[in-house]
Amino acid sequence: MLSQNHLHVSLLYIVLLTGTKYGCGGGGCGACTVMVSRYDQLHNRVLHYTVNACLQPICTLHGSAVVTVEGIGSTKTKLHPVQERIAKAHGSQCGFCTPGMVMSMYTLLRNKPHPTMEDIREALGGNLCRCTGYRPIIDGFKTFCDNDCVLNKYLIPCQISDELFHMDNVLPLDPSQDLIFPPELMKRACGSLCFQGDRLKLISPVDLTNLLELKTEYPEAPVVVGNTTIGPNMQVKGIHHPLIIYAGRVSDLHTVTWGKDGVSVGAVCTLSSLKEEMEMAVREMEAERTRGYQALLQTLRCLAGKQIRNMAVSPITITHRYRLILQKQREFAFSIVNAGMKVVFKEGSNIVESLNIYYGGVGPTLVKVGRTCQKLVGRYNLHTILKSQPMSPAFLAKDYQASPESQDRGHSTPLSECSFLFGFPVLQTHYLKTFQTFLTPQALRCSALGRCATQEAACRFSDHVSLFHFKTSDIDPSEALGMTGVVTFLSAGDVPGQNRRMWFNNPEELFAEEEVTCVGQIIGAVVAESREQARRAAQRVKVTYQDLLPVFFTIEEAIQHQSFFDPKRKLERGDMDKAFETVDQILEDEIYLGGQEHFYMETQGLIAVPKGENGELELFVASQHAAYTQEVVGITLGIDSNKITCHVRRLGGAFGGKVMKIASLSAITATAAVKTGRAVRCVLERGDDMLITSGRHPFLGQYKVGYNNDGTIMAADITYYSNGGCTLDESSFIMEKALLHMDNAYRIPNLRGRGLVCKTYLPSYTAFRGFGGPQGLMVMESVLHEVAVKCGLPPQKVREINMYREEECYTHHKQLFSPRDMLRCWDECLDKAGYHDRLQAIQQFNTYNRWKKRGISAVPMKFGVGFSKGFYNQGAALVNIYKDGSVLVAHGGTEMGQGINTKALQIAGRILKVPMSSIHIKETCTGNVPNAAPSAASFGTDAVGMAVKDACEKLMRRLKPVMENHPKYTWQQWIVEAYCQKVSLSATGFFLGPHTGVDWENSEGTAYYYFTFGACCSEVEIDCLTGDHKNLRTDIVMDVGESLNPALDIGQIEGGFVQGIGLYTIEELQFSPEGVLMTRGPSQYKIPALCDVPPQLNVHLLANAQNPHAIYNSKGIGEPPVFLASTIFFAIKEAVAAARRERGLGDSFPLSSPATAERIRMACEDQFTEMAPSPKKGTFKPWSINI
Ligand SMILES: Cc1cc2nc3c(=O)[nH]c(=O)nc-3n(C[C@H](O)[C@H](O)[C@H](O)COP(=O)(O)OP(=O)(O)OC[C@H]3O[C@@H](n4cnc5c(N)ncnc54)[C@H](O)[C@@H]3O)c2cc1C
Ligand code: FES
Ligand code: FES
Repeated sequence: MLSQNHLHVSLLYIVLLTGTKYGCGGGGCGACTVMVSRYDQLHNRVLHYTVNACLQPICTLHGSAVVTVEGIGSTKTKLHPVQERIAKAHGSQCGFCTPGMVMSMYTLLRNKPHPTMEDIREALGGNLCRCTGYRPIIDGFKTFCDNDCVLNKYLIPCQISDELFHMDNVLPLDPSQDLIFPPELMKRACGSLCFQGDRLKLISPVDLTNLLELKTEYPEAPVVVGNTTIGPNMQVKGIHHPLIIYAGRVSDLHTVTWGKDGVSVGAVCTLSSLKEEMEMAVREMEAERTRGYQALLQTLRCLAGKQIRNMAVSPITITHRYRLILQKQREFAFSIVNAGMKVVFKEGSNIVESLNIYYGGVGPTLVKVGRTCQKLVGRYNLHTILKSQPMSPAFLAKDYQASPESQDRGHSTPLSECSFLFGFPVLQTHYLKTFQTFLTPQALRCSALGRCATQEAACRFSDHVSLFHFKTSDIDPSEALGMTGVVTFLSAGDVPGQNRRMWFNNPEELFAEEEVTCVGQIIGAVVAESREQARRAAQRVKVTYQDLLPVFFTIEEAIQHQSFFDPKRKLERGDMDKAFETVDQILEDEIYLGGQEHFYMETQGLIAVPKGENGELELFVASQHAAYTQEVVGITLGIDSNKITCHVRRLGGAFGGKVMKIASLSAITATAAVKTGRAVRCVLERGDDMLITSGRHPFLGQYKVGYNNDGTIMAADITYYSNGGCTLDESSFIMEKALLHMDNAYRIPNLRGRGLVCKTYLPSYTAFRGFGGPQGLMVMESVLHEVAVKCGLPPQKVREINMYREEECYTHHKQLFSPRDMLRCWDECLDKAGYHDRLQAIQQFNTYNRWKKRGISAVPMKFGVGFSKGFYNQGAALVNIYKDGSVLVAHGGTEMGQGINTKALQIAGRILKVPMSSIHIKETCTGNVPNAAPSAASFGTDAVGMAVKDACEKLMRRLKPVMENHPKYTWQQWIVEAYCQKVSLSATGFFLGPHTGVDWENSEGTAYYYFTFGACCSEVEIDCLTGDHKNLRTDIVMDVGESLNPALDIGQIEGGFVQGIGLYTIEELQFSPEGVLMTRGPSQYKIPALCDVPPQLNVHLLANAQNPHAIYNSKGIGEPPVFLASTIFFAIKEAVAAARRERGLGDSFPLSSPATAERIRMACEDQFTEMAPSPKKGTFKPWSINI
């Protein structure tokens, strides 16, 4: 008998192979992609297709073969060409998405050994990557394309960026080496199957009569095919069905029949099969007859990813004449609102003969606007219909204009039938055409590959909607404790040491003790034998609360309540009051910036193992700051740090999110391990991770700026508010960084910044790549943009007028720097982007296009590297040489995809003069390198690199006499000789970094070690009617000094930039008015997918740049590129302004970040938005709030 797990749940939790990854559990990320092969008896062929293992019930795979990433190749045996090429092209940073990417590509090649770029784009559309920016993945995979591939259609040469990736010596694709489909699975399928589990039964009939009988007998049992709706409901929402009927094996329901009047599609025909049929019809039938199929194809291309389409049956009824979808992202996104409409006009008139309009997504079920339809029949023309349906007029108008009828006959001509099936073209996604230029080619990096259990723990967190008091006696775990597999429950009273995590004297409770201050706060934890049991039991722990009011969540409310954390910071230069008296103009405005979820592909997790001796404990933990985790665990358990060892092999992405929260989670898990005396693993589900660990701070920037009519800004007074959530965490340091970056590239003589961190009742916000920089810089760039608009000048001109220009400049906190390389980046960027010519072309485009507008924008950047808390600027390493000549390097940094290990290996190899193959880095371990600083602030390589260099130089100094005495010896002989001479072959290295620090009272101090400079120019196109936008082209020039490894640095630039695209344009966290995070997975929260990367993304490393401060003249690059994506935001603003100008509206209008489709649409004010005016504040309850 199979257990409950083995039934409804998927392949992912059963295969026990660690290559297939968990990223979301809901089909939304592709990390768990595997290939399923099945014999199709009807056509006597074997079908290979990808599925998301997290949603694929194991019992539905009877008779199928499954290939996971382990099945195609490995480092132990031989890599498959797909694996080799993604690694060689540097398409794997943290490596967590890589197995899924590999399986999608492998399956494509099984079906089509010579794919086109369109095939590759489609195959990877359902795979997310948070690190790379996708370009290198595509570079690696497009080497499988034929030279005459479809790229040529777009006049883009199908070449890889061979400066970074050499095609020499790559393995050829040899289909004869692929695993064969097991012949025994070709036998005729057996009859109905029934799988019985302890909580669930699954019946799989093979004929229709049987299916109908079952449905009659068990009307409550859902009929499942792809499990892509039922699966997430069961796994993510915890909905339980005791009986499931699987209809996927009913052969009658697989058929597709073409008839005179159209096509009849079997109810279990997958979306992929449907798409194939539609493609065939479009290829083979006359164009006029296939308009409906073309529209359906267009929808199918945007619907979910390839894996979901391979599993799911159609949510589309083909008889719908028109289907309209509003979604958060162009592709791979759930629709927010969808609609089906059909209107027929009386022959030769514009009188409506019949009208049907349905909406989905506006209520619990499909809504038919029956009365409206009825009223309109017989009496109205199209324009009246538009007015009667405020939700849809723009879309109808869009289609109307795109339809051949409108083009042929003009807008006012009566239509006999207005088929809205045609048109509504989604802005076309083109293919990536990228360039990367740099001067100093260096060694390649290795790719991160797979990773490798125990009791499981799940947290019980607050799920209530306001602030509560409770006593420990108000927690009742008795029901949970009585459940199968449950070992124990723990809460604050079980903590042997201190129930708090300290951070610079700021305590944060591990388990809530008396008061819950946010939804998502941890109250207790359940330990059980399996993950499922722990999860289920955690939901059964009862907590009784007593309400405390008022609670509030937004920055605006915190200002009203004057609820701020200390310290409040201020930086100031010049004399503001005097300056405001003399300027030509004064502008007061504000900009709101939403927060961002880290969405590292690997959720937070660890294993705590009690050693059974002297209280020793080992933790295998995904932490960016192992030493801090060790310290917090020690304090929680009341034992010394010397008994706790933290091991960090690599992290599946971190982006700042795995410094603080993982320490709390580690302390809780360690407490469970100590209490039970057994190893305990705790891995957060994606939704819980998003809820509990929070992310980047939302910011509000309010400013008063004084400027002259020529665009010179004389004074800017900015108040920054951030939403810090319920505890301080790192919020004050993040606010400091925002203030320290506020001047960006501009010498504004009178500048004042005040920073206040709001205390609200939300989960506590924490560090995120850029650490306040992207918000601080963005507010200043808004100031520049708005001043340009007011002065009627191009923004790039106003930026230039105000830039730092002298060879020696001082920031607003009086740090000396030279802006020379920043100006070079700016000039080169405008030049390489052809900014001025393209600006003209854009103006022309905008003149000729009414509903589509383009915009272009460029920004410069100055970004501080290093910690402004000086003591963190240190690095340590340990280098051991063994008698066989092999070298082991250990350092205090953590590898999370940024390539720190590769750079450390390069540095060690360069000094020891041994090949990188002789050097190994095993892990980061607090037992080898103690007290290490976090890998953060773009400073990891600087600190670790210097420390490795120091250790290697010490060893070389010790070896020098041996080498001089035996010049002919090999490296290994020198080592053996040194050993015999009792020379120590182990050395520690240390880097004493700069003494940075800021005197906040006097607004002065050297806050950063040095600055990384850059500039970026982006062009976008918006669709004024839908709010959709498309990133057309981006050019980046970045100063990374003398790059240690251009492939890694370019990877960081592209990856950071694409993460910034998410921050400024797509990623929107939505909270209910009760402070509950509603966006808890990739279905609701969209991070950039392949379709969001500009098809032209050109990255240039500034030539002849120097940086005497850091290792081998290089520069830190991890954080700065995120901000460069603000160019996309400002380009969108330009495009919206063009649309508004045409309608006689002002160029100055509010636009919050992210610039989502909804915001763009509403900013392009027109006759349609007038039909749906925003209701007055306070007159309604919003369904989501801007926190
Ligand atoms: C990551 C992800 C992205 C998605 N993106 C999109 C998107 O962009 N646009 C969009 O529209 N949708 C999207 N979806 C939703 C998806 O289209 C539906 O989940 C899918 O169509 C359901 O098909 P299924 O076979 O998997 O249904 P199942 O989960 O198997 O069943 C769903 C429901 O339909 C019923 N049912 C299933 N088969 C039959 C049948 N043959 N006859 C009668 N009833 C049946 C079941 O009883 C159940 O109630 C997405 C889903 C996921 C997981
Ligand atoms: S884990 Fe399966 S799609 Fe994300
Ligand atoms: S490499 Fe893709 S998620 Fe990290």
